[in-house]
Amino acid sequence: MHQLQSIYDLFGDSMKYLKAWVATFGIFLTLNVFSQTSLDFGDDKYQPRLGQEGKDVIWLPTENKLVTLMLKTAKVTPNDLVYDLGAGDGKIAIAAAKEFGARAVGIEFNADMAALAQRNAIRAGVGDRVKIINGDIFKEDFSKATVLTLYLLPELNMQLRPTILKMKPGTRVVSHAFSMGDWYPDAEFDSPAISYYWVVPAPIDGVWTISGMEPQNKVTLKIAQLFQDIGGILQIGESSQPILSPKLNGAKLSFSYIDRNKNSHKVSVTIDNNEFKGIDKIGGFFTSEIIGKRN
Ligand SMILES: C[S@@+](CC[C@H](N)C(=O)[O-])C[C@H]1O[C@@H](n2cnc3c(N)ncnc32)[C@H](O)[C@@H]1O
Repeated sequence: MHQLQSIYDLFGDSMKYLKAWVATFGIFLTLNVFSQTSLDFGDDKYQPRLGQEGKDVIWLPTENKLVTLMLKTAKVTPNDLVYDLGAGDGKIAIAAAKEFGARAVGIEFNADMAALAQRNAIRAGVGDRVKIINGDIFKEDFSKATVLTLYLLPELNMQLRPTILKMKPGTRVVSHAFSMGDWYPDAEFDSPAISYYWVVPAPIDGVWTISGMEPQNKVTLKIAQLFQDIGGILQIGESSQPILSPKLNGAKLSFSYIDRNKNSHKVSVTIDNNEFKGIDKIGGFFTSEIIGKRN
């Protein structure tokens, strides 16, 4: 069980007990894990304590190796805007800028910690690309992020989930240690600690009318969706069939089907709200452009 989770499971919501526990055992435990002392964190103005209380979750830093792996898994590039929700000393936002060339924003509730994180970014030479907001992750707007990083708690992930699912399809999300309930991850990695990766799926359930696929017939596609998991029925004139190997990756939908002449088709489209555009590749030779509109 993860360290943060076990602390909360042991003591529930009781900050009183949590504080006592952290004061007594927390430092010892975290020192074992990180082999670092509080002196390794902070500067002459502020020295945070490992395990210190935060608004909704205590502060523990993600290990350096995992920070890099999380950002690598999310395929962060200089085109990205990375938001770390609950930024601590700013290390994820700083790594996103320094190692991956991205712009990054950290949101941190503790004012001293947020100021330390901003100083750390300046010391790391990325002060121009890292902004630390002293605010609450449940109040600040992070909708412009292309990548989100989290090291929170399962229930906090679940509270954030509806907001995350409304973000731009294709937004990548990486969470250290904690999952998102029944929204199963697109990838999971377990070194040095378990972490999860998701791509925000476009909402595509409903009935779509497709033009350009079979000009002589009415074509509709009925899609049922649970997060990135989809199934669909393609109706071409009188005949209907389930779509084969459907895959939804952010705003990119692909599937195949066999037409009544036994030709195999590969369809790939990009969804933009209630419209999609893309191609229907027939037998690997012929390609037609298709457009779908949600009814
Ligand atoms: C487990 S630490 C993770 C720090 C950093 N993301 C990392 O991985 O190294 C969680 C951080 O979230 C902050 N925090 C807790 N509740 C918050 C809230 N509602 N809004 C913003 N920050 C919060 C804590 O102060 C703490 O620094």
